[in-house]
Amino acid sequence: MKDAQPSTIYLKDYQAPDYWIDTTHLTFDLHEDHTLVTAVLQMRLNEAVNCGEALPALTLHGEDLDLVSLHRDGEELENDRYQLVKGSLTLPVEQPRFQLQIVTRIRPQENTSLEGLYKSNGMFCTQCEAEGFRKITYYLDRPDVMSVFTTKVIASQARYPVLLANGNAIDRGELDNDRHYVTWEDPFKKPSYLFALVAGDLEYVEDHFTTMNGREVTLRLFTESHNIHKCDHAMISLKKSMKWDEDVYGREYDLDIFMIVAVDHFNMGAMENKGLNIFNSSCVLASPETATDATYQKIEAIVAHEYFHNWSGNRVTCRDWFQLSLKEGFTVFRDAEFSADMNSRGVKRIQDASVLRTAQFAEDAGPMAHPIRPESFIEISNFYTLTVYEKGCEVVRMIHTLLGADKFRKGTDLYFDRHDGEAATCEDFVKAMEDASGVDLTQFRNWYSQSGTPVVTVTDRYEAETGDYHLTIAQSCPATPGQEHKKPFHIPLGLALLDEQGQLLPLNAEGDKEQVLSIKQSEETFVFKGCKSKPLPSLLRNFSAPVRVRYDYSKDDLVFLMKHDTDSFNRWDACQRLGVMAIEQLVERFDEQAEQAVDSQLLDAFGVLIADPKLEHAVKAEMLCLPTEASLAEQAEVIKPLAIVAARKKVKQAIAETHSAALLALYNQLSHERDYCPEAADIAERTLKNVCLGYLAALDDAESLQRMAAQYNGASNMTDRRAALGCIVDARHRDEHLVEQVLTDFYDRYKDDANVMDGWFAVQSGSAELGTVEKVQALMQHDSFDPTSPNKLRSLIGGFTGNMARFHTTGGAGYEFLADRVIELDKQNPQVASRVMMPLTRWKKFEPVASGLMKKALQRIKAVHDLSTDVYEVVNKSL
Ligand code: ARG
Ligand code: ZN
Repeated sequence: MKDAQPSTIYLKDYQAPDYWIDTTHLTFDLHEDHTLVTAVLQMRLNEAVNCGEALPALTLHGEDLDLVSLHRDGEELENDRYQLVKGSLTLPVEQPRFQLQIVTRIRPQENTSLEGLYKSNGMFCTQCEAEGFRKITYYLDRPDVMSVFTTKVIASQARYPVLLANGNAIDRGELDNDRHYVTWEDPFKKPSYLFALVAGDLEYVEDHFTTMNGREVTLRLFTESHNIHKCDHAMISLKKSMKWDEDVYGREYDLDIFMIVAVDHFNMGAMENKGLNIFNSSCVLASPETATDATYQKIEAIVAHEYFHNWSGNRVTCRDWFQLSLKEGFTVFRDAEFSADMNSRGVKRIQDASVLRTAQFAEDAGPMAHPIRPESFIEISNFYTLTVYEKGCEVVRMIHTLLGADKFRKGTDLYFDRHDGEAATCEDFVKAMEDASGVDLTQFRNWYSQSGTPVVTVTDRYEAETGDYHLTIAQSCPATPGQEHKKPFHIPLGLALLDEQGQLLPLNAEGDKEQVLSIKQSEETFVFKGCKSKPLPSLLRNFSAPVRVRYDYSKDDLVFLMKHDTDSFNRWDACQRLGVMAIEQLVERFDEQAEQAVDSQLLDAFGVLIADPKLEHAVKAEMLCLPTEASLAEQAEVIKPLAIVAARKKVKQAIAETHSAALLALYNQLSHERDYCPEAADIAERTLKNVCLGYLAALDDAESLQRMAAQYNGASNMTDRRAALGCIVDARHRDEHLVEQVLTDFYDRYKDDANVMDGWFAVQSGSAELGTVEKVQALMQHDSFDPTSPNKLRSLIGGFTGNMARFHTTGGAGYEFLADRVIELDKQNPQVASRVMMPLTRWKKFEPVASGLMKKALQRIKAVHDLSTDVYEVVNKSL
């Protein structure tokens, strides 16, 4: 028998619902083996859609539910009065307004998908975005249906002293048999995906915020008692976010209480449920001993992101899931600007651009490529992507660039004003921007409908007689699935011109030294007058658009830009380009086996960089990092994993050997004892110090091994300890015993801390020296490995699939291992299964042998019956 094939849903088929749900009263009776959910819904015909005589039947979404009873206006409907099929419940309607009472039985304890209501470490919690609410009760589980929710939670007082839901607590009391209840009311209309409930034995820290109009807000952060000391940073971040959104966007918080709950088992980072954000514990808990600088910054960003959603997502939500980037792209832009204001703006831009160019460009060049507003999907969970989030953010940033800060703010004011309390579309957002600014964004809209990364090719010509400099800019965009031909994009291209002394030249009569060119044609030429010699262009400054720029820079040009460009992003990019050239040179001749010298210009340039006394620590640290293996793979025509690993390692070693004295001096200069502080300046020092440690480790001698061990043992914070641990693990060929010793030490110190243990797994599976298939298999059997925890799965499996030296070089054993995990996980947690298999979908880009083996692994997954829609969609689109 053939499996029923999951169907594709199209944006063009969008229709408003036949019915609205004005109010939703929920009662949760939580028990140890099941939960009873009673939903009382006030339904109303959508007059706008229905003008016919007969009232249409009502179809509600529902999954994995036992229907206990169904009443319509007080009358029980027996099972011959409704239709129950997989995924939905259909019933007849007799009045334009009516009440439904639906009782369902669910089993949160057995819910391993972590969607809907489930249990994590003994507590109940929910995750409803995108379509998880239908696993709680029958409902119109779509974001354009917005309702006022009241939620009564009943549970054992001893086991679950804390009972939370959205909004304000309006009633609480005790019941028989040690049971108690709390009733919550959320006065704001919201779609079901923003619903949340938590019940557990939790402690909280409390703080307060007074809003710009004097509203007193209680802030509470809930966690298991053993983690209560790790909430400070998130609380500080929350207060900063609330203030920033008032200052920069004029947006104020709107309920009496704002709550965050940390849970260990969570599919994603965090969720913006109204008034009750639920966070993956790894994105909220931190102490100097257990969290790295990177984690501190991640927490600040995610707390802000979820808080900002209160306006960009909750007050104004999405009409349908094709509009996901409306809230996500915009909110990522908001959190990125917040982080830039809190820390180093230049470094934030470098880091974001780097993620985009490495991972989003790869997605846009792969089989799952989609526009930031997709036109169709099989499973919406597969579209919580770098494209929708990060490229979506870049699209909003381009609007900001084209309009300027003031008009952009007028645009967001108009958008919030116009659509408050509504479910809106990307088009609504762009329209508000246009209306408020008077800027025509007609062509700009192509960014919403076209996928693929545009390529901007720049050529130039200098006329000595006239002093004219001609800059010709051509754009194209490669074909992507379903989109053979593209229309030109409207691209803001940041530009400056450097003269022979490295000074910026005036670009126009006003004397501006920086400009944003508005590129609209497939090819156009700009002429700059009065240049005394041929200038060097600084292109795409501040990464002004998510495009690839091709310009024929010589190595000398790049070294010059590294020194003189005033744009941090472009200085870093020049350094990256030089690194890519040097490494690719070795990759090309890898097969010849002959000794190849490392590019001397690169080595010289790094010498200058290391010694530069003026350069900001944070930027220097970024510039000193060679292009990652992933970014080299993304830029390669055909990926040769072994060659990339070897070539990059060789270049790193050469830099270390050539500049060992300067690196050591810098390392020593930056190593001094002081109390941990997660502020930008301190983070920059630690980052730079640990970049030096990494280079010194590449010297591969006894002395550096001692230095790493000393840093590991003497570390007073997790940043330094983790950095040293990583270096030591990579030196396994020199001292196997030391590696075992520090891994054991690390384990003994942190075995009770699930978040730190994630790092312990990742450092092993991700190591070129340690991360064999056998090692990963052994770690999966480890007592501290929890196969139901997405964090653990991501650390171990994700660490391994990102391990280019091992995953791709095992004669296919790595791919087969991954296929086995995907098939197994698909039964348990389809979202995680479909995420971890992503690396296989890039099979076409690899050299032939690897490519064939990856394809084979995918085919084996495809042959499995009853795949989830998540895995089904990914595997079928990639083969
Ligand atoms: N809206 C959340 C955020 O970006 C992400 C939730 C995603 N959940 C999911 N199941 N795909 O903040
Ligand atoms: Zn979000």
